[in-house]
Amino acid sequence: MDKVRVGLIGIGGMGGCHFYNYEKIPNAELVAVCDVRENVAKEKVGDRNIKIYTDYNKMIKNEKLDMIDICTPSFLHADMAVKLLKKGYHVLCEKPMTLNAKDAKRVAFVANEAEKNFMVAHVVRFMGPYTYLRNVIETKELGRLIRLEMKRISSIPTWSWEDWMREEKLSGGVVTDLSIHDLDFVQSILGMPDKIDAYRYQMTNNNDTVVTNMLYDGDILVSCEGTWYNTPIPFDASFLAVFQNGYVELNKGKLIKNGQEVDLGKKDVDEKDLGINVGNDDGYLVEMTYFIKCILENKKPDYVTPDSSANSVALADLIKKKALVLKQKRNI
Ligand SMILES: NC(=O)c1ccc[n+]([C@@H]2O[C@H](COP(=O)([O-])OP(=O)(O)OC[C@H]3O[C@@H](n4cnc5c(N)ncnc54)[C@H](O)[C@@H]3O)[C@@H](O)[C@H]2O)c1
Repeated sequence: MDKVRVGLIGIGGMGGCHFYNYEKIPNAELVAVCDVRENVAKEKVGDRNIKIYTDYNKMIKNEKLDMIDICTPSFLHADMAVKLLKKGYHVLCEKPMTLNAKDAKRVAFVANEAEKNFMVAHVVRFMGPYTYLRNVIETKELGRLIRLEMKRISSIPTWSWEDWMREEKLSGGVVTDLSIHDLDFVQSILGMPDKIDAYRYQMTNNNDTVVTNMLYDGDILVSCEGTWYNTPIPFDASFLAVFQNGYVELNKGKLIKNGQEVDLGKKDVDEKDLGINVGNDDGYLVEMTYFIKCILENKKPDYVTPDSSANSVALADLIKKKALVLKQKRNI
């Protein structure tokens, strides 16, 4: 195989991002897309030679595909992934892997048994500033990590199909949908924490915040905040990592190490406004290129394994269970 033939399911906000990125991956051919909203699919596809379906069962029946990319609402991930893996496709699935740990285990079990590849699109693991931070932690270049603070702030998502994202039982809410980006990053490096304290602050005007403190090895304190604000605040993801001999910071898109800005080189980033809360970053292209490369080289994607993605869903579950829920007492 010299080209991977892809079918994409769900061409809303994130599916649109994947859709445009396939045009930059020479070893991938987007053969067909499927969305229950045919008009949305038609608008994105335009005059490209890509088939359009509204039922993915028909798409896989009619088209010869090697890989399926699942960009549907999160409540559909588990069953779709299991079905497509059992049918013998390579599957790339948007985060979160599933909405709860039980389903995540079910998907991981099938994925581990499957001959073909499965990967959850944990894009943060592929983003330049975060891979840089991972390297500083793992090489102990600045000594041992002492403290890590991560934040992910967004206005409440309003773009989603039938508003599924704001329904906690369909999206997992601010913990499993938003904060999971940072929780997964931390979990993929440090594993599961020894101790968790969490606060959930749900306000009457639909703001939703989760603040989690996680303790590792008795003395590494990691805090992650994920917030959906009911105000048109620009999307921002940031971190501050303090080590024995210095710090690394991502602040307003700038990566700084010990006071000096780090140049991560030129990025192949589209300036297209996707209408969703994603920063302009080449992480999506890097992640998709990695998955396609693994297929072509007949290798399992070991940078994001099914078990580690399932652990991130389990961590999100644990946080939701443990969180002290604060309710707003008065309107602000
Ligand atoms: N990695 C990231 O940075 C990031 C950012 C946003 C969303 N996401 C994830 O991407 C996924 C999709 O989110 P979104 O923001 O694109 O949502 P969205 O609502 O914009 O898009 C979902 C699309 O799926 C379609 N759809 C619904 N049911 C379908 C079905 N049965 N078959 C085919 N199509 C169907 C909808 O019509 C819609 O176009 C979610 O899992 C979300 O968590 C990831």
